[in-house]
Amino acid sequence: MKMLFILFFASLVAGNVDITHQKNYYWSEQGLENPSQGLLQVADWSLLYFNTSREIRPVLLFTIATPASIPVVLPQVLENLASFLSQDQMDANGNRATTLAEHTLVASTNIEAHHGCGRLTEKYHHKCHEFDHKFNGAVYDHLELSQTKAHAYSIGLSRIKYLVDMVSLGYDVFYFDLHHYFFKNPLRYMYTHTTTPIVVSATPSSVCQPLSAAPDGSLPDEHHRLDIAFVRSTPSTFRCLYNWLYWSTHTMHEAEDKPLDHHTFRTVMQECVSSLGTSVLSVSYLNPEHFPSECNAKCGCRGGAPVERPPDGKCPTVCEFSMSIDFCYLREDGLIVAILTIAIHENVTQTMLFEFSRTTSGD
Ligand SMILES: *[C@@H]1O[C@H](CO)[C@@H](O)[C@H](O)[C@H]1NC(C)=O
Ligand SMILES: *[C@@H]1O[C@H](CO)[C@@H](O)[C@H](O)[C@H]1NC(C)=O
Repeated sequence: MKMLFILFFASLVAGNVDITHQKNYYWSEQGLENPSQGLLQVADWSLLYFNTSREIRPVLLFTIATPASIPVVLPQVLENLASFLSQDQMDANGNRATTLAEHTLVASTNIEAHHGCGRLTEKYHHKCHEFDHKFNGAVYDHLELSQTKAHAYSIGLSRIKYLVDMVSLGYDVFYFDLHHYFFKNPLRYMYTHTTTPIVVSATPSSVCQPLSAAPDGSLPDEHHRLDIAFVRSTPSTFRCLYNWLYWSTHTMHEAEDKPLDHHTFRTVMQECVSSLGTSVLSVSYLNPEHFPSECNAKCGCRGGAPVERPPDGKCPTVCEFSMSIDFCYLREDGLIVAILTIAIHENVTQTMLFEFSRTTSGD
C-alpha cells in the first residue's frame, strides 16, 4: 500500500498524460542518457560539412516523418532537398557537391514510416532513424496530435532529446517540420543571414510582423511554434537544450493539443538568456516574409501583413501551383518556403498532391 502511494506521487501526470516512462527512459542516476549507438552512426553518416565561406561547420538536417507523410510529402520534400547541391557541401569523406537530401536525418515515428522512409533512400540517399517508436508509435499524422494528446507530449520530448544529442556531438542542427518546401538553400540563409546561437521561426501571434528579442534579450511571452529551429552547437546551446529537456520532463505542463516543447521553450530559453547574458546566448526569429508559417498567413507575408487570399482560393504567386498547396508565394529574391497542405476529413487523414514548377535555381 505504501509502495503504491509512493509510485502514484512519483508519476508526472499533466492533464491525463503520464510522461514518467519517457522521463525514466532519458534520465538515470548518472544523468541524461547518452545518444544511442544507432543515432551516433546515423548522425555520422548524415553529417554535412558546410563551407560558410568564413568557416566549415558540421551540420545535420533533421525532420520527423509520420506514416501520413510517406506517400507524398516526404518524397516531395526530399526531391526539393536533393535539388540543393553545392561545392560548399561536403560529406565526411571529403566528397563535394553533395545534396541537402543526403545529409537529412529523417526520424520516423513508427515502423510503417520507417519502412516508407527506407524505400526512398536509394533515390535520395537521406538517412532514416527510429524516433523513439515506443513512445511515438501511434502518431499517424502531426495534425492529429490534438486527438492523441499523449503524443503532443512524447513527440516534443523526443525532439528535445534528439537536439541535445546532436548538439552534444558538436554538430549544428537545422530542424524543419516536414511541410516546408524551400526555394533557396536554407543552410546558406542560416549561416549568412543569422548570427545567434538559436534561430527559430516567428511565433504564430506575431502574424507577419518581424519579431525580435528585446535589447535585454527578453523573448516574447507566447506560444512558440518551432516549425523551424536552427541551433549552432556551442557550450551555451548545449546547456540550455539540456535544461530545456530537464524542465520539460521534471515539471508539469499543460500542452493541450500542441507539442510540449512549443510550450516549454520560452521559459527555459528566457532563463538561460537572462542568466548567461545575451553575449553568450540569444535567440532570434526568422523573418516571416522569408519563412512564413501556415499559422501566420495562408498566402505568406508582404510588408509586415498577410497577403490576402483571393476568393478563388489561389494565392497571388509567381510560381505555378495546384490548389492543394496551401500557399506558394515567391518573393522577387526567391527566399521563401511554401507550406504543403495535409487535409483531414473527419477521421481520415489525406495528404493531397501538389505540383508546381520551380522558377528559381537550386542555390
Ligand atoms: C570555402 O569557401 C571559401 C570562399 O568561397 C573558399 O575560398 C575556400 O577555399 C572554401 N574552403 C573549402 C575547404 O572548400
Ligand atoms: C470519427 O471518430 C469518432 C470517435 O472515434 C466517431 O464517433 C465518428 O463516428 C467517426 N466518424 C467517422 C466519419 O468515421
